[in-house]
Amino acid sequence: MSSEKEIKRVTTKTLALMKKKGIKISSLTAYDYITAKILDQSGIDVILVGDSLANVFQGNDTTLPVTMDEMIYHTKAVAKGIVRAMLVVDLPFMSYQLSVDEGFRNAGRIMKETSAGAVKLEGGVRVAETIKKITDAGIPVMGHVGLTPQSIYQFGSYRERGKSEEEAEEILRDAKAVEEAGAFSIVLEKIPAVLAKKITNEIKIPTIGIGAGVHCDGQILVSPDMLGLYVDFHPRFVRYYAELNKEISGAVKKYIDDVKETRFPNKDESY
Ligand code: KIV
Repeated sequence: MSSEKEIKRVTTKTLALMKKKGIKISSLTAYDYITAKILDQSGIDVILVGDSLANVFQGNDTTLPVTMDEMIYHTKAVAKGIVRAMLVVDLPFMSYQLSVDEGFRNAGRIMKETSAGAVKLEGGVRVAETIKKITDAGIPVMGHVGLTPQSIYQFGSYRERGKSEEEAEEILRDAKAVEEAGAFSIVLEKIPAVLAKKITNEIKIPTIGIGAGVHCDGQILVSPDMLGLYVDFHPRFVRYYAELNKEISGAVKKYIDDVKETRFPNKDESY
């Protein structure tokens, strides 16, 4: 009989091996215990406590407002639901932009206070020094280039990045800088599939795409998006695998009717 202890945890080494063998990496976000448990038990490889928490959990327009304390609070809950998947946590806006040391300290704080296996941060060349300092201390780092939502006010929109030759070259340079700095993996967000393919071929670490085509070494989506729970907007790269918004709404309406019409609770549900 197999016990939970016998399940092999996904590590940076597992992901490197998966790239080598051509096995695609599956990844989703989670912000709470029960979702994390369902994702883990379903066999997901990587669970990210994304700063998309600011959007889909807190209801903000951007990822900027979420704090270190809030990321840590949610990560602690998520960690309790995971046995197998690798747990990665986003360093939130302004937790690493101030200085290399500040980023280093905050990455360390996440690792000390949660059971995360890695941190993720956005940017390429300009955060390479921070990635190096964090990885040199033994903390695995996942990079994130292309559309980096923490820079939304600099970009001015959530449009696809890397369409022009100049922008594509910059993103390729960024991805290489992230790899060179010691990251174990990198998210490629909303860039042309041909560019994602080129990056995936030219760097050794696994690429995880979101709106970056099928050639990446793995894919990630925001869980409430792909479950059809968060339907405030629907980017083209999100496929709905369920319609939980409709499902929950239907269940709640049925419950309300039953309460109003005294069909709930029945005799068996009463003491
Ligand atoms: O915050 C997040 O959910 C992310 C993914 C979209 C990659 O960074």
